[in-house]
Amino acid sequence: MTSHWEEFFASTSPPCDLEENKKLLKDFTNYHLHFRRKIVLVTSGGTTVPLEHNTVRFVDNFSAGTRGSASAEHFLEAGYAVIFMFRTKTLEPFVRHFMGQKFLDLLEINRSSDSTMVNVKSENIDNILPVLTQYKAIQERRQLLCLQFTSLPEYMWLLRAACESLSPYGPLAVMYLAAAVSDFYIPTHQMPTHKMQSDSGPPTISLQLVPKMLEPLVSLWIPNAFVVSFKLETDESLLISKARGALAKYKHKLVIANLLQTRKHRVVFVTPEDTQEVVLTEEEIQSGIEIESKIVLLLVAKHDKFIQEAV
Ligand code: PMT
Repeated sequence: MTSHWEEFFASTSPPCDLEENKKLLKDFTNYHLHFRRKIVLVTSGGTTVPLEHNTVRFVDNFSAGTRGSASAEHFLEAGYAVIFMFRTKTLEPFVRHFMGQKFLDLLEINRSSDSTMVNVKSENIDNILPVLTQYKAIQERRQLLCLQFTSLPEYMWLLRAACESLSPYGPLAVMYLAAAVSDFYIPTHQMPTHKMQSDSGPPTISLQLVPKMLEPLVSLWIPNAFVVSFKLETDESLLISKARGALAKYKHKLVIANLLQTRKHRVVFVTPEDTQEVVLTEEEIQSGIEIESKIVLLLVAKHDKFIQEAV
């Protein structure tokens, strides 16, 4: 009997850049396996669910990509090789510090009789230099691979490909599943080909449940990795019980639970045995500390313990 997740893959076409991404994944993971480096897959941003094959409209999942992009930087700082799998146009490591118009405001044009130069304004050098230095060092060490997705099927195909490449790492691999993945979708065969017409009246859209990919991920695709899923709720009274429910069902190591309203300064690490709050104090918030620095620090300690117990 085929399971729901197998049916999902059987009924959705792979994205056209999948083979290219598989090659990038293979090269990256082979390179770092040689050094027996710890490695993490960080997923970030929300998936879209198209409503038409020729997509004009889609349903989106909330996520700016702050959690994923900031965490990726802290994993890099901790020496991990990082695969950053992110939703196109959401925040990316390093560049997230200089987004949009703010970036142009950092620069100035200097014209002289024989040349025109674009320079960083002197008062901004202290802001750019540490980020740029870190970015260049990461590039030189080939420590970061960025891969993009937009729709739910693109995310799912890429996630499975990443797991295949990471499985030789065994316990050295961390899956840090911070992306906001849709729970509902329209199966391919039920989707209209063309743009829905408003003169046909209001559409009735029937969404189906997306299979939880955590299930095959933990049990089949990458069974020896340190798998960390996230649980987002808006109702505090459900948060811990839902996280515990996920641990019981998928049998992975850790759920990081957060509420939409307070996610930037409070998360809870939930394991089958206990719960541990990670919070930012008012002073830490004022001084610009990001909660991801604390999350990753704690996670690295848990991962190291996991590796020791596995050998
Ligand atoms: O990016 P920011 O704005 O900083 O926000 C960060 C965040 C709030 C998005 C992040 O911290 C977070 O909580 N991400 C997970 C959101 C989410 O999808 O939660 P969920 O309860 O719907 O799913 C729980 C887990 O199941 C997720 O780890 C997901 O990978 C997994 N899942 C979800 C759907 C699905 N079909 N299959 C899955 O395996």
